[in-house]
Amino acid sequence: MIIVFLCFLVLSPSVVDAQCTCEGSRQTLVDFYTALGGAKWKQTWPVTDASSSVCNFYGVTCTSGDITGIDLDRNWLRGTLPASLSSLTRLQSFSVVYNGVMGTMPAAWGAALSSLTSLNLQDNLMTGSLPSELAGWTSITYVNIYNNSFSGTFPSQLSAWTTLQTIYLGYNDFSGTFPPELSAWSSIQTFSCSGNSFTGQLPSSWSSWSKLQSFRLSESLIGGTIPSSFSAWSLV
Ligand SMILES: *[C@@H]1O[C@H](CO)[C@@H](O)[C@H](O)[C@H]1NC(C)=O
Repeated sequence: MIIVFLCFLVLSPSVVDAQCTCEGSRQTLVDFYTALGGAKWKQTWPVTDASSSVCNFYGVTCTSGDITGIDLDRNWLRGTLPASLSSLTRLQSFSVVYNGVMGTMPAAWGAALSSLTSLNLQDNLMTGSLPSELAGWTSITYVNIYNNSFSGTFPSQLSAWTTLQTIYLGYNDFSGTFPPELSAWSSIQTFSCSGNSFTGQLPSSWSSWSKLQSFRLSESLIGGTIPSSFSAWSLV
């Protein structure tokens, strides 16, 4: 009898709600839900239910009073990323793989989201160039924007991503030459950029990528072979 009662206490929604310390972020999440067509999501959020807790919103992680994760892969999102999400300044992980997310990357997400470690936008419909402000992601380790329609040149300012270990840029419309400044990516292990329109040679400065394990080049790159001077690369 006591065990049954304890189980009820642990599972009761009202008890869980009382522990949610992320209610201060509710409006930011509601704005995100509205911008991405939340009413039609596969797993939706009960935003109109005042007794619902944001800690129980599908795909949302709340840690010590801050939203630290949003994971809404394959959830029928459709719309644009709102600049206002930049107020979730402790956000570490954002993943919306295989949805209908379109429009441009908000520059406001740059400096504000300095705790971001992982961004995954694979298989969406995003356009425009990457804002140089994203250089503010000084904790970033994983970036996946594979299979969108991003365009323009790759901003040299993103050389500030010195903690970056993995980046997938493939199947976008990027063009221009690679910035030599990305030699500052001293943690890079996986670099993939096929299916773009990059031109020119590999910057010789990238030979400093001593932790590189996997490298996929744009088909269109002139002289797309790896020069022997890149001896620091230990590709597997
Ligand atoms: C790109 O994503 C779409 C869905 O948005 C998918 O149907 C398509 O197969 C993907 N293409 C590649 C090259 O992965």
